[in-house]
Amino acid sequence: MGVNVNLEELDTDPHPVLARLRARSPACWVPEVGGWLVTGYAAAAEVLMDAVSFTVDDPRFTTARVTGASMLSLDGERHARHRAAFARAFRPADARAWLGDFIRAEAARLAARIRPQGQAELRTAFAGPLAAAVMAQALGLTSVGITPGTVLAWYRDIVAAVTDLPAGDPAPAGPATVPVASFAELAAAVRAAMDSGRAPLLSEAAQPGGLHAGEVTANAAVVLFGGIETTEGMIGNAVLEMLRQPGAELGLGLSRAGSAALGPRGWDLDLVPGLVEESLRIEPAAAVVDRYATRDVPLAGAGIRAGDLVRVSLAGANRDPEIFADPDRFDPRRPEAARHLAFARGPHFCIGAHLARLEAVTALTALIAGLPGLRLDPGCPAEVRGLVFRKPGELRVRWD
Ligand code: HEM
Repeated sequence: MGVNVNLEELDTDPHPVLARLRARSPACWVPEVGGWLVTGYAAAAEVLMDAVSFTVDDPRFTTARVTGASMLSLDGERHARHRAAFARAFRPADARAWLGDFIRAEAARLAARIRPQGQAELRTAFAGPLAAAVMAQALGLTSVGITPGTVLAWYRDIVAAVTDLPAGDPAPAGPATVPVASFAELAAAVRAAMDSGRAPLLSEAAQPGGLHAGEVTANAAVVLFGGIETTEGMIGNAVLEMLRQPGAELGLGLSRAGSAALGPRGWDLDLVPGLVEESLRIEPAAAVVDRYATRDVPLAGAGIRAGDLVRVSLAGANRDPEIFADPDRFDPRRPEAARHLAFARGPHFCIGAHLARLEAVTALTALIAGLPGLRLDPGCPAEVRGLVFRKPGELRVRWD
């Protein structure tokens, strides 16, 4: 049976609605979202692990119509082939060795740039530019003269083009890929970076036995998509949670007796990784991921039919009391926090998860160190919003 929910509520304050739905059934048919909404942790994990029954390879997803097929739009062996070409560079030690110094320098530079102002909106002045700069660097685009600003502009255009495409039902009319000017420019820059030999990630993906140039471009584009908006949201959500901690208004949040790593005015830098992990759990920047059922399949008592849209609420799974005790409480020392599904699970587990964590921890550390007395601006309270991508619209802060 269907459950009526209010879309506005899902956008502004989804957690009580998700809890209500989960209490009724871990998988509910919700007409307002056009499909099943999976809010229970076990059911969410089951969907994400079973790419045979719940696929991303469906023409109703429109990204591939602009970029061409990529790891994001394929399942099975084809998915494994696309993903493997990019996977090594994103392993934790590789990501750190490859981009750690760049991220640290860029985060410190962005914090130093705004420091004289005494106040800023951190999404546009810090989190967004950092995410774009890291992706431009990771893809080697900076080595061929492309600025993070250009990358951001392409990103916005391509997302708008993907969003404007009518979802094919079941097979879209028209050509397999739709020409989009910004994507053509991105593709040209990716080719130039590949040819320059100064883009190790792309050269590795295009090695003999690897991907063709067009496939490298499609995957480079989805890596770029993955690395910009979600990362900006992740940093915004984590900074907001950090500054909501008791004592944060005095620059004394997260202090712990006996810590060896106290930053300016008492911030405990050792607790930053735990804070990031808990923030990913309590407010995942990508709150929903979608699949289509390939066959009739039972899920937690629900009768999913072939062709149904199955929307996995990562935000819902992350507050399932079966897994997370007192799930609405933010606790940076929570032992089970890392079981969250903010980066999904299974074959499409976020390839950038380790890099993203590194970016978030580095970003928070740079803000604590670079902007002493950092606190939320009491005159402009920040609110996290969004049904699929959740982040503060504005994150206004002040410092001494
Ligand atoms: C360095 C930054 C990031 C990069 C380069 C990146 C890249 C990607 C890519 C390429 C995929 C597709 C993997 C596949 O289909 O095999 C993916 C999946 C995913 N990413 Fe990320 N990502 C980044 C950061 C983030 C952040 C910060 C979040 C959320 C907090 C996130 C959440 C996800 C989720 C939920 C999926 C699974 C999508 C699905 O199953 O449909 N990513 N990411």
